[in-house]
Amino acid sequence: NNNITIAVDGFSSTGKSTVAKLIAKKYNFIYVDTGAMYRAVTLFAKQNNFVGKGFLEETKIISSLKDISLSFKFNEKLGFAEMYLNNVNVEKEIRTLEISQLVSKVAAISEVRKKLVSEQQEMGKKGGVIMDGRDIGTVVFPNADLKLFMTASAEKRAKRRYKELIDRGDKISYEDILLNVKERDRIDSTRDDSPLIKADDAIEFDNSNMGIEEQFKEICTLIDNKL
Ligand code: C5P
Repeated sequence: NNNITIAVDGFSSTGKSTVAKLIAKKYNFIYVDTGAMYRAVTLFAKQNNFVGKGFLEETKIISSLKDISLSFKFNEKLGFAEMYLNNVNVEKEIRTLEISQLVSKVAAISEVRKKLVSEQQEMGKKGGVIMDGRDIGTVVFPNADLKLFMTASAEKRAKRRYKELIDRGDKISYEDILLNVKERDRIDSTRDDSPLIKADDAIEFDNSNMGIEEQFKEICTLIDNKL
């Protein structure tokens, strides 16, 4: 049975997407990065001046949701799917620190969540999918065959994120990244709608001191037991 559903939740920059991509490749699952969807909605809101430093126009964001079309297109060269907002590739724009600083506030809006959750359920309904986010095991696929919950220390995560952005050529400081990681943890875990929380039946991985390889192997064993 290769049609299983795997939910990967956890704090930001815990290596969720790295592990999920490796799993997807090995087992030929579809990988869905739901954070990219929240980031794309945030980018759209920013482009239209509905959100920015110190302001958020919730009603305008809600009424513009009907104008937002999200899709993933597989990039053969990169080996994973990229995010498209209204048919434009926004993979690079959604990963900036600026979007990271706005996204958690946009993701706390219930109407935004309702739209994205239903699209995610549609994408995953046939199974054979590994989806990463914050509410996959609790809200999107509460009946997932396997639920993973990833954690790591804020410092470790900020270092990882800092390296990613520096390698891309962004000019940012480690302090700003650490602040952002902590702030997103706070907003994501305390919002009213679908807060980030470990599902009772999720298996927790703390990778503060564990390499991706080691973790990947353990997760493969868990999956092999389900297939
Ligand atoms: O996974 P990533 O760090 O790219 O997610 C960006 C933000 O999107 C999170 O900090 C969170 O606010 C929001 N998010 C969410 N629910 C998900 C995935 C992401 O609220 N399933």
